[in-house]
Amino acid sequence: MQKEVTNKIATTIAEKFRQIFQGEPLLIRSPGRVNLIGEHTDYNEGFVLPAAIDKAAYLAISLRDDEEIHLVAHDLNETFSVNINEMKPVGDINWPNFILGAAAQFLKKGIQLKGFNAVLMSDVPIGAGMSSSAAIECATTFALNELLHTGLDRLEMVKMAQKAEHEYAGVMCGIMDQFASMMGKKNNVIKLDCRSLEYEYIPFRLEGIKILLLNTNVKHSLASSEYNTRRTECGKAIEWIRKHEPEVSSLRDVTIDMLNKHVLIEDQLIDMRCRFIVQEIKRLTEGCEDLKLGNIHALGKKMFLTHRGLSEMYGVSCKELDFLVNFVHSKNEVIGARMMGGGFGGCTINLVMEEGVEQLITEIKPAYETATNLPLTYYISSIENGTEII
Ligand code: GLA
Repeated sequence: MQKEVTNKIATTIAEKFRQIFQGEPLLIRSPGRVNLIGEHTDYNEGFVLPAAIDKAAYLAISLRDDEEIHLVAHDLNETFSVNINEMKPVGDINWPNFILGAAAQFLKKGIQLKGFNAVLMSDVPIGAGMSSSAAIECATTFALNELLHTGLDRLEMVKMAQKAEHEYAGVMCGIMDQFASMMGKKNNVIKLDCRSLEYEYIPFRLEGIKILLLNTNVKHSLASSEYNTRRTECGKAIEWIRKHEPEVSSLRDVTIDMLNKHVLIEDQLIDMRCRFIVQEIKRLTEGCEDLKLGNIHALGKKMFLTHRGLSEMYGVSCKELDFLVNFVHSKNEVIGARMMGGGFGGCTINLVMEEGVEQLITEIKPAYETATNLPLTYYISSIENGTEII
């Protein structure tokens, strides 16, 4: 199924490329991601548990002989052109930033960049918390590394793609999304230590269980500003703690006792934010053990707890996400559910017994649409490989 979709999209963008630019492009696929548990822990040097999925960004690309960049977004029917020497973040449209931001990293490394032509297409829904931007950043970085024969390893490319997001999209994201897109492995989730960047693939046996993503279709307009605010709040707490415990460098090192002593007295809200992170890092570590033991129900319970924490303590949910999680909470066929990604909209991730998926959708779709006046869309995700040449 995944192969058919990939081939179909690859054929479409290759044809489009030939029509507009002539010549044969390199074709790259780079996926979006899900994250089972461990949210907002990456930039606090904790752990995350993501996986690359079947939805992906696709790039048809080739180098030019001059210094011009010509881009086409096939789905949006938009084009964008710029000279390499004039690259900067674009204000009014978003998508060129993910490509230009990635290209700019080559220049910053002192690598001689050339102009290029590219056609982009993606079936990762935008603003759904499935990392549509990381998918494009990774696709571009991977493609340019290939075309320029730069010989960068995947981890180096992950870091460059993350910087693209920081510098051209203005979101101070952690490393999870780009890591998952670039390093994903079919039927495995990645336990990533965001401090050391050591990682481990854990097989995710899906027999009888589906990963169902329910999209609130709330466009997360607060996402980037509030995301950056959360980072600042966590950083503030570290400053307070370090006055007394200088060896602490991130919330990864922090205990509840330290919060009681050094943060609670400074600011109750920031204390609550940090408490969530400390709990979430612990929850993820235990959740990985559940997964290794095949105890998916124990992991599912933790996912519900994560949602409650993200909503009530970390303050990154919204009423539509809460509605979806509350609705499925008492359903026997739902093993676990929570909001996924940065928050303020986007999707919930649900682990659902296969035989209950259809019935659940039949019930939840009209209930959500009546309650919110928004459409509910859904995706059943499979876990696929990371960035690759097609
Ligand atoms: C966004 C960011 C990630 C991560 C998640 C929250 O997806 O890009 O780095 O922080 O939010 O877990």
